[in-house]
Amino acid sequence: MFTKKTINDIDIQDKRVLMRADFNVPIAEDGTIANDFRIKEALPTIKALLDKKARLVIMSHLGRPEGRPDPKFSLKPVGVRLRELLGTDVLFAADCVGAETEKMVADLQPGQVLLLENVRFHPEEEANDEDFAAQLAKYGDVFVQDGCGVVHRAHATTEGITHFIPSVAGLLLEKEVDTITRVMDTPERPLMAIIGGAKISDKIDVLNKFIDIADFIAIGGAMANTFLAAEGVDIAKSKYESNDVPIARDILIKAREKAKKERFIFYIPQDGVVATSLEKTATTRIVDWDAHVIADVESYPKQPTATSRTVADDEMILDIGPFSGAFIAGGIQLANTVVWNGTMGVTETPAVNGPVGPFAHGTELVIDALLGDYGHRPFSLVGGGDTVGYVEQRNLTGSFNHVSTGGGASLELMAGRSLPGVAALQDR
Ligand code: 3PG
Repeated sequence: MFTKKTINDIDIQDKRVLMRADFNVPIAEDGTIANDFRIKEALPTIKALLDKKARLVIMSHLGRPEGRPDPKFSLKPVGVRLRELLGTDVLFAADCVGAETEKMVADLQPGQVLLLENVRFHPEEEANDEDFAAQLAKYGDVFVQDGCGVVHRAHATTEGITHFIPSVAGLLLEKEVDTITRVMDTPERPLMAIIGGAKISDKIDVLNKFIDIADFIAIGGAMANTFLAAEGVDIAKSKYESNDVPIARDILIKAREKAKKERFIFYIPQDGVVATSLEKTATTRIVDWDAHVIADVESYPKQPTATSRTVADDEMILDIGPFSGAFIAGGIQLANTVVWNGTMGVTETPAVNGPVGPFAHGTELVIDALLGDYGHRPFSLVGGGDTVGYVEQRNLTGSFNHVSTGGGASLELMAGRSLPGVAALQDR
């Protein structure tokens, strides 16, 4: 349950409202926004504030510009997109502080929106500088935190500012924290976690948490390669984190201990799609290092060749194989709640034909199963930058029960950590 005050708990009518959003969106080479999911998700709060005739100042960061102005990280394109989505004018201030911006804020009329330039153009933002926070706080009678993706940071616009003006949550932050904590605290069981991504060390807390609370954990993505390496499977040129191998071993030990005591599955892929390059035209093949299904069937009655079970020296594992995909999809059929964070393979490689790339088939299988293509549809909570990016690219964000805008923040929330940007808000 969300225990902080929201914009529904305070008087907003005609007030000067300073809102923090997380408009840290991917920008394409040509300067356009590659994915506007985070902007769209902020709209309900913005619209609710404008309905109350607030004078709305919005601030955000974009990327990691290291404390100096850099046009590459400008929020200007975000202002343009916001204007299109809102269908109303959005003013833009070229700096988040300074006399010119103060004048723009002072001139703001009820129902008008002003977007400030990237707050991370000033080193004081990440340093949580008190004076900087105080300067920004002057723009509002009230502060609304809706930057769900950034509340795990104690910065001037997430923590510092709350010391100066009454601070409450926006509707997105409320929805995200409420959904994620409910799933973690009181999930409808069986609970399954499908975890992918590159580094185990980035997700170690969440993995440990799921070993404590989930009924089934399935691993995919480059992270699976590290687990396979820990198990002694020859992964050849596959991407993996050698530093994470001892962590992988510890996790496997912990998971196996749990599986001895109760019904619990910790699944690492038994087959994979391999190729010698990430190119969309790369020749792919399936290697069945553990399931001994496809290769055995194909070569029956002879013994399968060693190559069908071994990743060659110049090959990389780039997706889970069909047996692993089917096993995970089968698990989804038995689950009532599924948390999915991390794609199963290299979904960035574009397709030669149609929408699905050569290393995205495992991820597609997971999506099909989650969306009920095999009959059963569990409650689905989807998170993680690459995963959400892929789902958005496939136009499927609206199809899941909840797609989180918070990358690292939602992982920390899942792991049970207190988030400074949420903790600092007024209690209900
Ligand atoms: C994110 O994309 O996860 C958030 O916007 C936070 O960005 P950061 O990791 O640069 O603080």
